[in-house]
Amino acid sequence: MENPVSVVPIAARPADPLNFFWFIPTHGDGSYLGSETQQRPPDFGYFKDVASAVDRLGFEGVLLPTGQNCVDSWITAAGLAAATERLKFLVALRPGVVSPSFAARQTAALDRQTNGRLLLNVVVGGNPTELAGDGVFLDHDERYAQAAEFLTIWRRLLEGETVDFDGRHYRVAGSRLDFPAAQQPHPPLYIGGSSDAGIELAAEHTELYLTWGEPVDAVAGKIERVRAAAAKRGRRMRFGIRLHFIVRETSDEAWAAADRLISRISDEQIAHAQSRLRALSDSVGQRRMLELHGGRRDKLEVAPNLWAGVGLVRGGAGTALVGDPATVAERLREYQAAGIDTVIGSGYPHLEESYRVAELLFPQLGIQRQTASYRPSVHNEFAVGAARLTAAS
Ligand SMILES: Cc1cc2nc3c(=O)[nH]c(=O)nc-3n(C[C@H](O)[C@H](O)[C@H](O)COP(=O)(O)O)c2cc1C
Repeated sequence: MENPVSVVPIAARPADPLNFFWFIPTHGDGSYLGSETQQRPPDFGYFKDVASAVDRLGFEGVLLPTGQNCVDSWITAAGLAAATERLKFLVALRPGVVSPSFAARQTAALDRQTNGRLLLNVVVGGNPTELAGDGVFLDHDERYAQAAEFLTIWRRLLEGETVDFDGRHYRVAGSRLDFPAAQQPHPPLYIGGSSDAGIELAAEHTELYLTWGEPVDAVAGKIERVRAAAAKRGRRMRFGIRLHFIVRETSDEAWAAADRLISRISDEQIAHAQSRLRALSDSVGQRRMLELHGGRRDKLEVAPNLWAGVGLVRGGAGTALVGDPATVAERLREYQAAGIDTVIGSGYPHLEESYRVAELLFPQLGIQRQTASYRPSVHNEFAVGAARLTAAS
């Protein structure tokens, strides 16, 4: 007799929806990379437009980057929190430029003020020239050693301890935090760093490891390394990916939009940006991104639907998933099968592309919008079909 209970094989079960974040363009936005045409300056009113749109569209949160060319992530997040209801704020925290005790107080204050909507992205930094401007003169691995001490003090304070610490980089005596964070013991820590030192710090201190958008096999390899480093410490970690998105109703439209985005960049601009990124950065993650395309604009699809055009002139996240909604969703499922549960997306310009991602891609991924939906009885120019159905029933 046939078994009446239908058993769905594990692989065929719909995967859990991804946690989908967006990005606040605190260093500016625009429609054409490498061009001043249609540029949007990084002003707070615009950040508010983006944040309030993605809050309603069903995004989980937003990443706020840090760096000499970014409007400050903490101040911006504090302002945007007041203009949003559910959105979480993944705020970049750069150890080495503030004291751990001061950072613990800021963490607790912002987490309380947002009712527990704060997440932190630990950014050690990969540009020694920029770091020197902030008073950090340590080499690559020593910066990670400093970050380890920083996070040890920061965590003990948020856990409620009175801390005495005498290390190579920090010394504090009788340090304590009078007002705890809303999330206990502390807001989750995220981190991106591809070097051995970065992976060891991630495994020791953080909850979620972030990678820039490399091809699936490379991401899977990193995930294995981080998992193994965490397992040695009896810890388990989650994983996220940072990608741009160019999603359109058809694949042809999406690739045309990708071409348009880099249509005004000259070869000189590309050569200049590539040599600057190589000369100024000591980040292993950045080097891996540059090696994906080698600065060549004729070899930009570095894996199926993974396009490296953004990385021709932008440091950090340099790849986009390009395609129609079903294909892009399929590519994301491949990352998900490798262990990714969180996506931090962006697209140029960030306001319009957030709508495209939410309206075209979210339905494919099972992500619900937060806005009120229509009742079937609504009769207007967008609900003709529903009204007809209602009339017929
Ligand atoms: C998702 C993600 C976001 C990052 N955000 C920033 C940032 O806002 N500012 C910054 O200076 N570096 C940022 N980084 C760079 C790393 O934090 C790290 O400092 C750098 O890559 C050097 O580390 P590595 O040599 O271990 O790769 C980011 C990296 C990733 C993967």
